[in-house]
Amino acid sequence: MGTGTPVIHDVVGIGFGPSNLSLATALEEHSANVPEHPLTAAFFERQPSFGWHRNMLLPSTTMQVSFLKDLATFRNPSSRFSFVSYLHASDRLANFANTHTFFPTRQEFHQYLEWVEANFTDHVSYNSEVTGIALPPDATPGPDQYLQIEVRDRGGSGTRLVNARNVTVSTGLVPHMPVGVDSDDRVWHSSEFLDRFRQMDPHALKRVAVVGAGQSAAEIARFLYDSLHHAQVFAIVPSYGYSIADSTPFANKVFDPDAVDDYYFGTNRTRDAFWQYHKNTNYSVVDDDVIRDLHRRVYDEDVSGSRRMHFLNLSRVSDVKRAGNETRVSLESLLDTDSQDLDVDILVCATGYDSMDPSGLLGDLDRYCLRDTSGRHQVGRDYRLVTVPPLSCGIYLQGGTEHTHGLTSSLLSNIAVRSGEIADSIAQRRAVDEPGAA
Ligand code: FDA
Repeated sequence: MGTGTPVIHDVVGIGFGPSNLSLATALEEHSANVPEHPLTAAFFERQPSFGWHRNMLLPSTTMQVSFLKDLATFRNPSSRFSFVSYLHASDRLANFANTHTFFPTRQEFHQYLEWVEANFTDHVSYNSEVTGIALPPDATPGPDQYLQIEVRDRGGSGTRLVNARNVTVSTGLVPHMPVGVDSDDRVWHSSEFLDRFRQMDPHALKRVAVVGAGQSAAEIARFLYDSLHHAQVFAIVPSYGYSIADSTPFANKVFDPDAVDDYYFGTNRTRDAFWQYHKNTNYSVVDDDVIRDLHRRVYDEDVSGSRRMHFLNLSRVSDVKRAGNETRVSLESLLDTDSQDLDVDILVCATGYDSMDPSGLLGDLDRYCLRDTSGRHQVGRDYRLVTVPPLSCGIYLQGGTEHTHGLTSSLLSNIAVRSGEIADSIAQRRAVDEPGAA
């Protein structure tokens, strides 16, 4: 390439969580199979280093997905990037087998992800936030078209433009706070939990509250109870009690790679059935062992006659007032018209996430991306946004496709297969543009 010719990557990946890390492994394996036509990639991540939900790496928390659903195995069972390869390299394969579990701790899975990431340090820039995607001025549709990706250096050295024929938007879930509640140094979303908790003097935390009915809420309630032996812990749940996550074998099939086809090519009735019958595999539900753990603590308190774990069920947060270190939470009962105020030292909102929405990054380009009658993006089976001229580059989504590809959209279950499908789509489209480059 001569001086002045812009470098154009085959793919720029936005975000470097498990989805784009899995894509990196798929691209690497593709290029190893077709060394004469490697796919070039660059990834940009806004965190200072690799991290997967670091603020929820609580002691003893386990994965909610089998270790076989790692970054690569379902795409390529002999991949060197599998969890089994990691165990082997860490000299723990035999001892892991002795644990008789499919569900490693989140700490161990994080180490596995870091072990894979160490192979791609040359391809990823940290502290690098993508702030927009655009077509260069005078862009025309066709094989020569490329996108300009604006990357802001969070270290303070300004912004730069990076060029690519395709982008994969893999920016993850967006924390959701209760309506009208803002986070600050005493009111936290669960995604900030450990960072914030470590900054507090634990002895100063005498009354703490967690709101939410899902896995993170239950895990944080258990953690606070176990870590703050002197504290009163209030679990505010809108339901009657925590509900169990259905991980039984027939229901779990909704996370199989085949289920994506059934969902994608199904009718609206098919898709409704998935949500109606199987939402309880993932949303607002808690693993059986965590529920039993918490219940054990409550029962032990019944026996001992001293109470510091308080369940405020059928309750919703209607208001939060903050003054200095004081936090007053107003609660509305769903049982009757009663309301009560609760004074706490910290309030943790484990109130879930909104799904990924690429619109902000797309900016002006969004008008070339087709939407369905409900206003949602149209997405091809290959996870590529359906676009119209002048936009002909590929914009792929890893996340934000619940309406088209189903329940696995924001989960780990299908990322190995999904990233393989995206890598294949990019390679096949390039082969059409440049015959011979499959
Ligand atoms: P993820 O959110 O992990 O990564 C996105 C990355 O993009 C982040 O690192 C972010 O910093 C970066 N980013 C965002 N915007 C950017 C920008 N503009 N520029 C540059 N970088 C940007 N699922 C499952 O199947 N089994 C499980 O056990 C769990 N466990 C689990 C625990 C907890 C606590 C949570 C919150 C979630 C789960 N999940 C899960 C679901 C979860 O979505 C999944 O595990 C992965 O994190 C999905 O990986 P992604 O890479 O898509 O998103």
